[in-house]
Amino acid sequence: MERILITGSLGQLGTELVLELQNKFGIDQVFATDIHSPIHKKFAGHFETLDVLDINSIRKIIEKNKITQIYHLAAILSASAEKSPSLAWNINMNGLINVLDLAKEYKIKKVFWPSSIAVFGPDTPKDQTPQNTLMNPNTIYGITKVAGEKLCAYYNEKYDMDIRSLRYPGLIGYQSLPGGGTTDYAVEIFHEALSNGRFTSPLDSDTSLPMMFMPDAIRATIELMDAKKDNLSVKSSYNLSGISFSPKQIAESIRKHIPDFIINYNPDFRQKIAASWPNSIDDSVARKDWKWKVAYDLDDMTMEMIRHLKKTKQPVNVF
Ligand code: NAD
Ligand code: SER
Repeated sequence: MERILITGSLGQLGTELVLELQNKFGIDQVFATDIHSPIHKKFAGHFETLDVLDINSIRKIIEKNKITQIYHLAAILSASAEKSPSLAWNINMNGLINVLDLAKEYKIKKVFWPSSIAVFGPDTPKDQTPQNTLMNPNTIYGITKVAGEKLCAYYNEKYDMDIRSLRYPGLIGYQSLPGGGTTDYAVEIFHEALSNGRFTSPLDSDTSLPMMFMPDAIRATIELMDAKKDNLSVKSSYNLSGISFSPKQIAESIRKHIPDFIINYNPDFRQKIAASWPNSIDDSVARKDWKWKVAYDLDDMTMEMIRHLKKTKQPVNVF
């Protein structure tokens, strides 16, 4: 019987992953945590507040609940990290080391830790970026993700652990609002399109980035975690590809449903971050090792986002 600890579970990814893990393992087997409390969210199942920098509290939760797997999601994302680099380094690196050390000590069977397309930098090949290539990120977030990948690979090799990871593209979902990423615009645009009929993009019209609809990201996570360890050739983190599009292209897709939708462009500091990341990702190693296959294209995703957000009437001001 698996017993799952999730850190950072109230974030954009955690909100949806917790539900999937509860469905898969049973609601009583999943122990969701976050530094914040779930005041504004309907939360069914176990929840405790937990700061990932507090190793003793993590230890207590592991012992008390006889945890067998950890999904360590807590992090500061790219745009927020540029505003508070030392905080981002502290949470992203020391949180990860705490989790890995305890996972080693308590012989946790499997750990999942998300990496990102932010591991790549300005000198990385931009199109169909390969699994193994130059990784010289120029953001503090990207630096923590590269270091995190190296740390996971080191613990896997040195201590014979089973830590698995994906380099997620920008994630787009309707069940929660994003938290401080450069790719957040691709969620915010739907909220603004439905509430105001217009959106001001923080990125240039033609800045194309790798993105993924949340159901694909959740399925990729579960499929990677279910894969046989012997089939996994990558000990750091897998490239994962979904959809690539620019602000102009997503606006065109939205106009198929909201013909009068207007997009303006006012690039800010996020443009520089986005410009340092790839346009598209080669995930052939993931496809070979654990049979990954993306399901949603841009228009499929747009249709689903608009259909769900119309139903749920999410808040207008998402910033
Ligand atoms: P998010 O910002 O929405 O959520 C992060 C959560 O971590 C928040 O709920 C926050 O309260 C929590 N947190 C922050 N500091 C904490 C601490 N000290 N202790 C405990 N919890 C803390 O981020 P997300 O989009 O859900 O991302 C989850 C993971 O996936 C992160 O590791 C992120 O780097 C990675 N990722 C996300 C994306 C994306 O587009 N959302 C893309 C690539 C990788
Ligand atoms: N989507 C994330 C961000 O923009 C990348 O990991 O920060």
